[in-house]
Amino acid sequence: MSQPHRKLGIGVIGAGGIANGAHFPNYVRNPRARLVAVADISLDVARAAAERWDIPHVYTDYRELLRNPEVEAVSVTTWAGAHADPVIAAAEAGKHILCEKPIAIDLADADRMVAAAQRAGVKFTMGYQPRFSHLWNTVKRLLDEGTIGTIQALNIVSCAPSAHRTAWFLRKSQAGGGVLMDWGIYTAFMINWFLGPVESVFGTYRRFREQNFAGGQLVPDADVEDTVAATLQFASGAVGTWYTTWAATARHGYTSIDGSVGSILLRGGSGDGPSVFTIRWDEPDYLRGWRQLPLVELQNSEQHYRKLDHLVSAVLDDEPLVMTGADGRDALELVLSIYRSAETGQPVRLPLVREVALAR
Ligand SMILES: NC(=O)c1ccc[n+]([C@@H]2O[C@H](COP(=O)([O-])OP(=O)(O)OC[C@H]3O[C@@H](n4cnc5c(N)ncnc54)[C@H](O)[C@@H]3O)[C@@H](O)[C@H]2O)c1
Repeated sequence: MSQPHRKLGIGVIGAGGIANGAHFPNYVRNPRARLVAVADISLDVARAAAERWDIPHVYTDYRELLRNPEVEAVSVTTWAGAHADPVIAAAEAGKHILCEKPIAIDLADADRMVAAAQRAGVKFTMGYQPRFSHLWNTVKRLLDEGTIGTIQALNIVSCAPSAHRTAWFLRKSQAGGGVLMDWGIYTAFMINWFLGPVESVFGTYRRFREQNFAGGQLVPDADVEDTVAATLQFASGAVGTWYTTWAATARHGYTSIDGSVGSILLRGGSGDGPSVFTIRWDEPDYLRGWRQLPLVELQNSEQHYRKLDHLVSAVLDDEPLVMTGADGRDALELVLSIYRSAETGQPVRLPLVREVALAR
């Protein structure tokens, strides 16, 4: 039953960059959310957030936050490698969950998280805000409506200079990987959403920048890849290529999708704003040509607002989620498959589940 006038009690676990940049401010401006608690392993960080965003309950241990009955749903915004335990504990405490990307850095953890939420019957969504962008939704609609026919190929080039604020992003033990795990995980979600499932991958990675910086400081123990190139084969028979790097000196990139009767070209974040072009080969000569679709993209903050409201509304209106923890798990599986291929020098078939289960 819909509860249009009720405010959902929210707790935030991890009060760092993305919590302050996107979660706190967008819960504050959501008329159907109420920030009631914050937890961070650093008391100073948790207190500073509580003061800034006027949050009544402050904890250093997320398990105490989860015992607070006013908390009905949580954002988990800890380091990538520290999502699994709070998400599972939140599910077991009966709280609904939004977990930042990537879901985890280990597939078995991701499976445990999804299973815990299913067992508890709580809603579990992910932090991929581009899922709500007009760019992605326009392309998804074009694909679903068959505008370019049967899909043959997807090619992705996604390049930018690295710009991290904190060192953990550059350590495999905390981040699980580099450009592919941190930035590529959004693309992995997009690939699955647009064309999935992927049947096999063949990938390689490099570290071109031996010295890595975060927040202007040298991170001497940085050990993640900065560049990945992979080929993809889809269960549908389509093929794909994916090149991504944060070792580029300039931001550039595109995604192209070729179908039996046309093509789609999308550009995002190139400095000119996102855009979608289509062309159809079955049109008469005098009409044929690349056509730019009208697209006024949402501000980044609006995409974050929608991703958080997605959970709030799903709970209060008792509606199904359009993006779930299981989607986060599948994006992680794609990324880990490419890492495995790069490390073994062999093509890797998906799903990985069986191999992971056997390896443990
Ligand atoms: N969706 C996006 O646009 C976006 C952008 C940036 C980061 N992220 C993701 O958000 C997450 C956090 O990134 P960030 O940039 O905010 O990092 P951050 O280092 O700024 O903040 C993380 C915070 O979590 C706290 N923390 C760590 N373990 C904890 C635990 N067990 N309990 C409580 N607090 C704990 C740390 O003390 C820190 O304050 C990562 O998964 C990252 O990939 C998403």
